[in-house]
Amino acid sequence: MTDDAPWKIGFDTYDPQAEQQREVLFALGNGVVVLRNAAPWSRAGAHHYPGTYLAGAYARFRARINGETVEVESLANLPNPLPLTFRIGDGAWFTLDAAEIIDYRHELDMHDGVARRELTCRWEGRRLRLSVHQFVSMARCGLAGLRVRLVPLGWSGRVEFRAMIDGGVENRNVARYEPYPARHLAPPDAFVEGDAGYVHTRLLGTGTKVVVAQSLAGAHGDANGWSVEHRLCRDAESGVAIDLCKRIEVTAGAAEPARLRSAPDFATLEREHRAAWRTLWDGVGIEADDPDIARPLRFHAFHLLQSVSPLSGALDSGIPARGWHGEGYRGHIFWDEIFVFPFLLARFPDLARSKLLYRWRRLTAAREAARASGHRGAMYPWRSASRGDEVTPRWQWNMLSHHWMRDHTQRARHIGSAVVYNFWHYYLMTGDTEFLASHGAEVILEVARFWASKAERSAEDGRYDIRGVIGPDEFHDRYPGARSPGLENNAYTNLTAVWTLCRALEVLDHVPATAAAALREKLRLGDDELALWDRISRRVRLAFHGDGILSQFEGFERLEPFRSDTLPPRYEGQRLDWALEASGQSANAYQITKQADTLTLFHLFRREEICALIARLGYSFDGDALKRTCHYYFDRTTHRSSLSRVVYAGALAEVDRDASLDLFREALTTDLASKKPQSVAEGVHLGAMGGTLDVLQRRYFGIYPVVDGLRFAPSLPDGLCPMRIRFELRGLTFTAEGREGRVTLTSHASNLRPLAITHPGGECTLKPGESLGAEN
Ligand code: BGC
Repeated sequence: MTDDAPWKIGFDTYDPQAEQQREVLFALGNGVVVLRNAAPWSRAGAHHYPGTYLAGAYARFRARINGETVEVESLANLPNPLPLTFRIGDGAWFTLDAAEIIDYRHELDMHDGVARRELTCRWEGRRLRLSVHQFVSMARCGLAGLRVRLVPLGWSGRVEFRAMIDGGVENRNVARYEPYPARHLAPPDAFVEGDAGYVHTRLLGTGTKVVVAQSLAGAHGDANGWSVEHRLCRDAESGVAIDLCKRIEVTAGAAEPARLRSAPDFATLEREHRAAWRTLWDGVGIEADDPDIARPLRFHAFHLLQSVSPLSGALDSGIPARGWHGEGYRGHIFWDEIFVFPFLLARFPDLARSKLLYRWRRLTAAREAARASGHRGAMYPWRSASRGDEVTPRWQWNMLSHHWMRDHTQRARHIGSAVVYNFWHYYLMTGDTEFLASHGAEVILEVARFWASKAERSAEDGRYDIRGVIGPDEFHDRYPGARSPGLENNAYTNLTAVWTLCRALEVLDHVPATAAAALREKLRLGDDELALWDRISRRVRLAFHGDGILSQFEGFERLEPFRSDTLPPRYEGQRLDWALEASGQSANAYQITKQADTLTLFHLFRREEICALIARLGYSFDGDALKRTCHYYFDRTTHRSSLSRVVYAGALAEVDRDASLDLFREALTTDLASKKPQSVAEGVHLGAMGGTLDVLQRRYFGIYPVVDGLRFAPSLPDGLCPMRIRFELRGLTFTAEGREGRVTLTSHASNLRPLAITHPGGECTLKPGESLGAEN
């Protein structure tokens, strides 16, 4: 990989083995449609996977898995509009895999949202220069452009170009899903109108109509079964460029893809697209002097905005864990959004609000799930797709043992608290009491109600236990030898449940009295119930190890220590839970975690907040115990989830800044320099990407929104300085600038109001145009 300009990332060699990973790294999207950056002459196979996805376009179908009929909801790979190739005379159709490459460059220009391939090669004895230029319009929903430029070098002759939409695609991006049906689309209809062509299909199970269209000026088209193709002949002359510009449209639900017909020409489309990205980048406002810091941060912001953008604001889709870039986790929505929201909230609050609505609209489904499991309130699903019911698969395929393993991750009930965290932080960042009154409060109250019904009072000591759950660490889903799955008193689950109950107890004070009364009436929320929530929020049980370390769950310290010889050497470097199962053991038996679990608490909440929550429960826990807890888990974590390092970076920001910075730097390369290329080939890791931006803003620059303003408590490692971030809080704009040892917060002169700030030196009111400095 080369990084020769602050906004560019590129590769100077062609490596077929790495192509699927690069297709994802350079995937182009606008929050509505995402096209993997496959070469236009490539076909799905061992080295290429041209995928086309629309936000929220899931197919639903049944499958027979391990003797059970299961229902699956899966992001569908749509008809592929990329193919564009050529032949010289009557020769073979060009493909790079069969050419002799002389020079090659594949690059992403994040500033303009454009990907390019520039290469010189020898094809059928002739030298030629090729350049491919692609973008997905950030200005117009569903529209994309692809230009192929061919320059003959030292020869002339007839060249025939062929552009296609391939309707015969399947979902085959993820090898583990091979036992499931691959076809997610109904048989398509293809037809041609002059130089435009259309493939119409429907998503299986939902019936949603999808149309993929192309147009290639002056070309002659044919419908060919499920596909359309356009051909065009040109007389090529040595040294003279031939440009083929294909416009593409991908839409769902709409009756006709009318936009392509009325869309502007290629050059205008691209001009508008670049201008839209300029506006977006103006809103991002993250700058670092060190290009090795600036570039990955931009890369993360870039993919975030390609997954969720102003164009997707009106769509009823969530924030997918793997972007809309691949088929990993089937496009499902997890708790990963908690790591993405802080970036959006501080820059694109309207967009954040539109993505909160995804959860709001699924409140009824969450209520039904709670009721069906014998609880009250709202129980959000661990994995969510179109309807908001639980879509976590029942089985996962162990690629090492070739066994089906029962998937119990739907017991990660902490997802509900994550939803509340996002609604509450939207309120803190924006002060939007109207939205809190109309949407947020109801979600917060209903999730709190779920927690109150899930917590069981112990007759012995009156404490409340939360049983049968799993925490973020998915290596542990039951006690060794236990017949039923689930763990007791997972610290992360219990403390976020307590935090949720506390927010529920105060939320009605933050909305107008009439709205509060109406909500209480609607939810039949009486004083008794509120008093019960208050009681539970003071008596939930936590488990501690003898030395005051907060236990991940009850009994964690009694599990076997994991030793270097626990696994047979042949499984070295393999996914640990699979390897243990393959060798007849179980990860449940060991003190080894997949990812940060307890430590996620110290990432999401400041030290004082977490200590206060634990004190509310009547336990003692101080900064020292927190530090020991961090080190204890650090030594037992495999970082098998992409979220782990970034969460540790956040958790350690106040505890061990050097260790935090090392982890942060690693998190910056999660996808760019991944040690698991196959995983990247299945989609970006959006949670980890958002997480780096969150750690930077919250934990390092110390920007914590609070009810009465802003708590400014920076802890910025010098190694990242100088750098600046701009952010919005309650309609006011601020810049925070870090230079060795100091962060300066400035309220922009254009702000209309002052803001109350609590900072390490005390409290103040920062007026427009004023600055406030704090030691790191
Ligand atoms: C992690 C989860 C995460 C999911 C999607 C899993 O591997 O354990 O915490 O939500 O990936 O990113």
